Amino acid sequence: MRIALIGFGVVGKSLVELLEQQQAVLRDRHGLAAKFVAVVDSKGAAVGEHGLSAGELLAAKAAHGTVAAIPGHGLKNADANRIIAESGAQVLVETSPSDLKKPDAAIGHLRSAMSHGLHAVTVNKAPLAVAMPALLELAAYNRVQLKFSGTVGAGTPVLAWAKRCAQGNRVRSLKAIINGTTNFILSNMTEKGLAFDEVLREAMRLGYAETDPSNDIDGIDTAMKLVILANHVMDRRATFSDVQVKGIRGLSSEAIESARARGNVVKLIGRVEGDRLSVAPEEIPQNAPMNVGGSLNAVTLDCEVGGEVTLVGRGAGGPETATAIVRDLIDVWRDGESKR
Ligand SMILES: NC(=O)c1ccc[n+]([C@@H]2O[C@H](COP(=O)([O-])OP(=O)(O)OC[C@H]3O[C@@H](n4cnc5c(N)ncnc54)[C@H](OP(=O)(O)O)[C@@H]3O)[C@@H](O)[C@H]2O)c1
Repeated sequence: MRIALIGFGVVGKSLVELLEQQQAVLRDRHGLAAKFVAVVDSKGAAVGEHGLSAGELLAAKAAHGTVAAIPGHGLKNADANRIIAESGAQVLVETSPSDLKKPDAAIGHLRSAMSHGLHAVTVNKAPLAVAMPALLELAAYNRVQLKFSGTVGAGTPVLAWAKRCAQGNRVRSLKAIINGTTNFILSNMTEKGLAFDEVLREAMRLGYAETDPSNDIDGIDTAMKLVILANHVMDRRATFSDVQVKGIRGLSSEAIESARARGNVVKLIGRVEGDRLSVAPEEIPQNAPMNVGGSLNAVTLDCEVGGEVTLVGRGAGGPETATAIVRDLIDVWRDGESKR
């Protein structure tokens, strides 16, 4: 399977390493031999129709900050869409940053790929948050697959699990803690009695929060993931503009304390209930299955038959997210590409 990879940061590098480690298992168990025919970062690209070496890609990135430095394969200031179209790849893997303010480049990568007959696997949430219904239609029109396991829950298979629950049952509503940074902040405020700003600084120091934490603390990341869940699990044709979003910026220690006095904890919850999609800090009982600590994620589905089911797991990490991409690549291969 020939892959074009856009983005060669934490997740992209983990993917190259994971596929290198899993070569034998993928071949023996799935008949899948994956190779990268193009890798693109923000400064350039490397292309090689017979497959690029994982060692060379990682070494060039570490030494020169770009894969464009690989002799004989590197291209500076490459046009990603042109590379997607001309690389001979069968699958695009999109791992560029999820930027809701500037989603057009990543949407363009997915569109270019699918309209040239490539399947697409994305861990980038922004294109789906803005245009998931349209992108799914484009995939169906071009008879290619669009996969996005890693966009919610990283390596924890939240989307596949939830979709499966919705088969032969109806998911009445859904609530989700799907942002590790805010859960880390709220858990630490609750457990250590610390103030919001203090915990945010600690989260930044430990690398849980970005230098600009607004995506997380203002609820934007949760809302993007909620849109993906609503479309995939509950067949809502929703986009980001349909979500009412309130984050946890400046949440007071008093709010945490008074929740505790009622036997509750405060969590940033994304909800799909009726026609409403919302993100807001909410109180949940201390003994609720969703009361997960640290940077964990938890998703609860309320099913018509059987009631509530909850999945808990880690929701971030390069290697974890790379496993979700490999899962999608195996599905793409099994569901058609091997028979083309
Ligand atoms: N990290 C996680 O735990 C995690 C979990 C789930 C989903 N995700 C999603 O996965 C994606 C990647 O995350 P990450 O942590 O790997 O981010 P990252 O480390 O910042 O890597 C992003 C990569 O994309 C490249 N890039 C930026 N703009 C580009 C453009 N216009 N064209 C081509 N490449 C471009 C960057 O190039 P340079 O290297 O030259 O800067 C970098 O290689 C994001 O959408 C994120 O939301 C991440």
